[in-house]
Amino acid sequence: MPLPLAWSEDGPKVERLKDPTNSGNKSLSLHRWANWIAGFSAEFVNSAIDRYLSPTGAAQATVLDPFAGVGTTNVEALRRGFQTCGFELNAFAALAARCKLEVARLDLDLLRTTIDQYATSMRAFECHVDRWWDALARGRQPYPGPVPRARPPELFRTREPFFSKPVELKVLWTLDFIGGIEDPTIQDYFRLALGSTLVSYSNYSYEPSLCSRSKLGKPLVENASVGAAIASKLEHMVADAVELRSELSLLPQLPRAHIVQGSFFDALSHLAPGSIDLAITSPPYLNNYHYVRNTRPQLYWLGFVTSPADAARLEKQSFGKFWQTVRDGQAVELCFNLPGLESQLAELRTLRSEHGIYGGSGWANYVASYFNDSYRFLGLLRTLLKPGGHAVVVVGNSLLQGMDFRVDEVLSQIATLHGLDAQVERIRSKRVGNSIVGTGLRQKPQNGRPELYEAAVIVKR
Ligand SMILES: C[S@@+](CC[C@H](N)C(=O)[O-])C[C@H]1O[C@@H](n2cnc3c(N)ncnc32)[C@H](O)[C@@H]1O
Repeated sequence: MPLPLAWSEDGPKVERLKDPTNSGNKSLSLHRWANWIAGFSAEFVNSAIDRYLSPTGAAQATVLDPFAGVGTTNVEALRRGFQTCGFELNAFAALAARCKLEVARLDLDLLRTTIDQYATSMRAFECHVDRWWDALARGRQPYPGPVPRARPPELFRTREPFFSKPVELKVLWTLDFIGGIEDPTIQDYFRLALGSTLVSYSNYSYEPSLCSRSKLGKPLVENASVGAAIASKLEHMVADAVELRSELSLLPQLPRAHIVQGSFFDALSHLAPGSIDLAITSPPYLNNYHYVRNTRPQLYWLGFVTSPADAARLEKQSFGKFWQTVRDGQAVELCFNLPGLESQLAELRTLRSEHGIYGGSGWANYVASYFNDSYRFLGLLRTLLKPGGHAVVVVGNSLLQGMDFRVDEVLSQIATLHGLDAQVERIRSKRVGNSIVGTGLRQKPQNGRPELYEAAVIVKR
């Protein structure tokens, strides 16, 4: 049974929260602008809004996503007329979320004209590059065409060349073009279009972690039309922006919507205590999916990160940290008291001790860091929620070194420690993904087949 609904029983009846997986988003207006691992489905967000907020109070209510990703929660809240705010640490994801929320203020005519200018400039440039590349295949010739001013990010290193030479020249030409755009919002749209397409014409691929194509047995991308990929992404963005603007024009007033590019742990610098009616979110899962490493191409090529030290700072600020960041420090202790979790951690520490930090002790540090951040997160959420406000927090369990960590149950217990009402609702079983980590468990399931699931922890202040 869900916690009592926050508003009148006469409102829409939502029996179940919808499937949170975002596969459908790839073709959905706005959501198709940038794919994001573990991104929400639009219909999941809407089912949570339907359940906990009254449409009649929309203009006054605020929907928060503390881990906004590419802004699915915020876009759907905006569409429904709610004020909305999101925090996102990853600058590329934050860029995607921000572009979506800026649709109403966007100069669409200027965007269209700039796309035309870009397409014309790229067509001519790609012609030069493609001719040179063909000639090169027949016998070496120096590059005869114009030379881009932009340079590849100096400290972005990959095992295989990230782009082939002709593709790299085209990307650099695009960067020159973007650098010359005066309007910052239009510039953001172009940067997003570049960021969300660049892996598709690189020698890497998402599987879902970033992997070189040669390692996957896929052919390298020797040449491609970067201009066509980016222009087509921008055309989609224009079409979707037109659609959203007509939806927003029906609202009595345009809600406030903004994304903070930064850590949710600094939320009190941006939000007043007791200001949030509903939070819908999904923090990184306890599966060590490495958001920072997997977006290195976008972070470096868009200039958000210029050195490994920048990336390391992001890793340290990330919710739950990463196994790689914490595995070899001193034993991390829990900063709160939950005897069940403590004994599970103690057991994990003893496993595969012959592997040192690659065995249980390294993973125990990761789990303890993850739940310490969960404790901070739920404490902050309690401060931000209005009395009677709800949060829907989607998490998955994880199988680490053969042990099943039921993150939903632990989060619900931590919420109770903070004086919140909490309960757990299973929303999906047989979740696919890399949540069985650090062990040969895929080959040797203990106690039968390990079950992966996703659950919503429903919290009420
Ligand atoms: C599971 S994803 C959320 C996806 C989101 N629901 C969507 O639909 O796009 C978790 C996000 O949390 C972000 N993140 C990690 N640590 C953070 C922090 N301290 N503050 C804000 N965001 C953070 C990650 O970069 C990642 O985008």
